[in-house]
Amino acid sequence: MTDTNTNHLSWDEWDELHNPPPAVTDFDRVVERAISRRGFLGVLAMGSAAVAMGSVGNLMSSTSAQAQEAASRFAFKPIDIATDNTIHVPEGYNWKPLARWGEALFSSSSDIDPMKGVSLENSDKVFGENTDGMELFVIGGAQVIAVNHEYVNNEINLPHAPEGMPQSLDDVKILQNMQGVTVMEVAEGENGWAIVVDSKFNRRIHHNTPMKLSGPAAGSELVKTAADPGGVDCLGTFNNCGAGKTPWGTYLTCEENFNGYFGSTNAEFEMPADYKRYGIVAETRYAYEKFDERFDVSKNPNEPRRAGYVVEIDPSDASSTPIKRTALGRIKHENAAVVVARDGRVVVYMGDDERGEFLYKFVSNGIYVPGGDTSKLLDEGMLYVAKFSDEGTGEWLALTEETTGMKADEIAVFTRQAASKVGATTMDRPEWVAVNPVAVEAYCCLTNNSRRGEVKDGKLRTNAGGDEMAVNAANPREKNEYGQIVRWYPANDDHTDSAFSWDLFAMAGNPAVHKDGAYAGSSNINEGNMFNSPDGMMFDSTGLVWIQTDGEDSNEGEFAGQGNNQMLAGDPVTGRIERFMTGPKGSEVTGLTWSADKRTMFAGIQHPDAPFPDGEGKLPRSTIVAIKRDDNALVG
Ligand code: FEO
Ligand code: CA
Ligand code: CA
Repeated sequence: MTDTNTNHLSWDEWDELHNPPPAVTDFDRVVERAISRRGFLGVLAMGSAAVAMGSVGNLMSSTSAQAQEAASRFAFKPIDIATDNTIHVPEGYNWKPLARWGEALFSSSSDIDPMKGVSLENSDKVFGENTDGMELFVIGGAQVIAVNHEYVNNEINLPHAPEGMPQSLDDVKILQNMQGVTVMEVAEGENGWAIVVDSKFNRRIHHNTPMKLSGPAAGSELVKTAADPGGVDCLGTFNNCGAGKTPWGTYLTCEENFNGYFGSTNAEFEMPADYKRYGIVAETRYAYEKFDERFDVSKNPNEPRRAGYVVEIDPSDASSTPIKRTALGRIKHENAAVVVARDGRVVVYMGDDERGEFLYKFVSNGIYVPGGDTSKLLDEGMLYVAKFSDEGTGEWLALTEETTGMKADEIAVFTRQAASKVGATTMDRPEWVAVNPVAVEAYCCLTNNSRRGEVKDGKLRTNAGGDEMAVNAANPREKNEYGQIVRWYPANDDHTDSAFSWDLFAMAGNPAVHKDGAYAGSSNINEGNMFNSPDGMMFDSTGLVWIQTDGEDSNEGEFAGQGNNQMLAGDPVTGRIERFMTGPKGSEVTGLTWSADKRTMFAGIQHPDAPFPDGEGKLPRSTIVAIKRDDNALVG
């Protein structure tokens, strides 16, 4: 039991509280980096916006002048910020809830009582909490959405429990069931979109669903447990954040802050050394370990090494077994952006969302052939990590036995440590990656990093592996509270190429508070479109990039004028960015997909503070909403 209630904290805040990054100890390296840091900031500190931007200026993309001149590709009138408890969309658009926390997927389950929470009996048969990444699949004539439930708010799921802390195994099971993934058929009727109750596709995947490990870690000593001596049969998927979709019609769900589910009941237990890099600590916010021995690392030290993967799910078969694809590495996975390269090999881009962690790319050995065998494409291939140079070029560094001195199973399980060995670039929390469907380029939201460039007790801050977080061109601001979007262009227009060039598509900022300098943001940020902490990101089929935020919504101080979290659209060609939607107070806008006919856009609202969407007196419910044009024209 925690002595202070931390259930209200976001995952990032909780992680920061429990896993403060260590300071570095090598004094000489610190001095060397500090000097280069001053040199870089010296340019930024010269004052004028032109100079400030000029230091990264050749890396910045299109200008606002070009943007103004370009014919608008935006089919909406941009909206103002909001600070209230509901959603706003542009004139001529409307929104309605599609699926709320606790809605029944089967007629045998009843909807949640929004004031009492959910019963254990219903908890694995209803729409889970805190919706996140999602994808829509057309299967036969059906439209099927697979969607993540990243985490739960203990208090609203366990209203009887003091501060929401589980009091029994039954309480733990409720929390376990309300997370994971929902697969559900959806259909549009006279009253809008709704879940097709009892569809054969409907399914809940949660913290106890049987799944398989495949790839280099499968069968390794590192992942064997007493319950699974073969090291291939695992249970559950955890902290499912962003998502991805393969060309062969499967869903990729990404395990992010998996560390928070594994704790120790034994104060004497010495935590294995590899835990530190992933932030696995004795005390958790869910207390699973107190009632469910599988989550007690003092009894099952390998169990947390079976989480932190990309998991492949076949949405067309509710009885299929999800597969953890360990070749894609074990990190705090944000999403998995899949693209088929020119030669048919499958490329998956992935961010590791923690301060100072890295950006990854997987390239399959085999090629994708429509209708062919795809079972090994995500098992056999090469994992790379990104190194960004200050000159606007970069390199994907292969993680091999030769480059890391680690065996293949060790690289798959201790991926962060492997990436540190090859000298990857520490990033400002890589969130979603999105690949442009109409140009050979990819984007990653670097949401923020309050410790970038920070010196504490004379030492430069590092990630949990000791890699220093000095400012660099791709992560150019100290104490970066606004975030940026980096974009790269694979050499030879080939996503498998190990070389790339890059620029910053946008550097978020606040031009109302900072009249010039780097914190005002890049030239495509203005007082009418400003935001902070870009996180979710998806391209639509026309090549517009949609940006969702998960940031500071106080609308005060450094964030004055930025309002609630929001969704914006960006034009990759002109750099222009416009605000399309604002979420309810306290919420994050995350997850985006489209109906088969592209006349509906589905967006997720996670962790609203206010009684959204049911109104006053009701509990806040994480919800997927359907957004349409009043004239039913295309929206993506
Ligand atoms: Fe689950 Fe990094 O957001
Ligand atoms: Ca996210
Ligand atoms: Ca986030």
